[in-house]
Amino acid sequence: MVIPHSSSHPRAVRDLLKPTLPVSLRTCWINGSYVSEADAHVSIFDRSVLFGDGVYEVAAVFNGRLLDADRHLVRLERSMREIALPAPASSAELEAVMQELATRNGITEGLVYLQVTRGAAERDFAFPDHVQPTVFAFARPKKLSDDPNQHGIRVHVVPDIRWQRCDIKSTAMLAQVLAKQAARQAGAFEAMMHEDGLVTEGGSSNLWIVRDGIAYTRPLSRDILAGITRHVCLDVADEAQVSVVQRAFTVEQAINADECFITSATSFVLPVTRIDEHVVGNGAPGPVTLRMRDAYLARAHRLTT
Ligand code: PDD
Repeated sequence: MVIPHSSSHPRAVRDLLKPTLPVSLRTCWINGSYVSEADAHVSIFDRSVLFGDGVYEVAAVFNGRLLDADRHLVRLERSMREIALPAPASSAELEAVMQELATRNGITEGLVYLQVTRGAAERDFAFPDHVQPTVFAFARPKKLSDDPNQHGIRVHVVPDIRWQRCDIKSTAMLAQVLAKQAARQAGAFEAMMHEDGLVTEGGSSNLWIVRDGIAYTRPLSRDILAGITRHVCLDVADEAQVSVVQRAFTVEQAINADECFITSATSFVLPVTRIDEHVVGNGAPGPVTLRMRDAYLARAHRLTT
């Protein structure tokens, strides 16, 4: 089929129709092979395409090395177990692939994304009898140590409309897509999701507040993802001289907090200085947040150099 390359197409469609490929293509990995991103394809019958039937991980690359890959792969194993998806390879093999992608693509700071899906089969909601999981991974650079957002971000409050197993790192993320798009349209970097006023988490991060020198973060449950960065922050809290209480907080308490911050593998620790039109504290990154970010970065350097 020949699709006319006409200027009457909307811009996104015109971009898809561009005749030339970008000069530099990444090396990706799919079902056991390293391939150019131009050759990394999944079937239209893949269950992650049809149903979001898959799970994933995102790990940071720092100083050219994967950060906390072991913890990410333990979480991936758990996500696969929870949706009865057979592991396509051992954690050690997947970790080696993730590191190799960072190396082959010359990434010193960035991230590696890995997805496992139930595979391609005739469309049927229940699991197909004979199906091979699809597994793929790619890497991309991103500034982590010198993130321009380290000076403070705005979050936008939205209701959490997700399902009841937010502890599974599922690729079915339409609710987060809508939350983060609403945030972007509101001029915010991240969404602050809540259920009846009680903060659950960010669109793709965990949320924290600080009141009278104590940092609060929601305890783990099926309502939030067990963030690896959140866990590492609990581990380095002593070094950062931060007392932490795992307790849920409301949007109102976040607005009136002394400090607020988010944590994720791709942002580490970032200060939240605005919640919609409200200024948090004095509008500058607070001391507890900065100590936590510094301790996180110091540990990341120790582990990767
Ligand atoms: N997201 N909560 C949600 C809903 C997330 O999607 C993420 C991470 C986190 C933080 O988890 P961690 O510290 O392990 O990155 C919390 C990744 C970064 C993503 O989807 O891109």
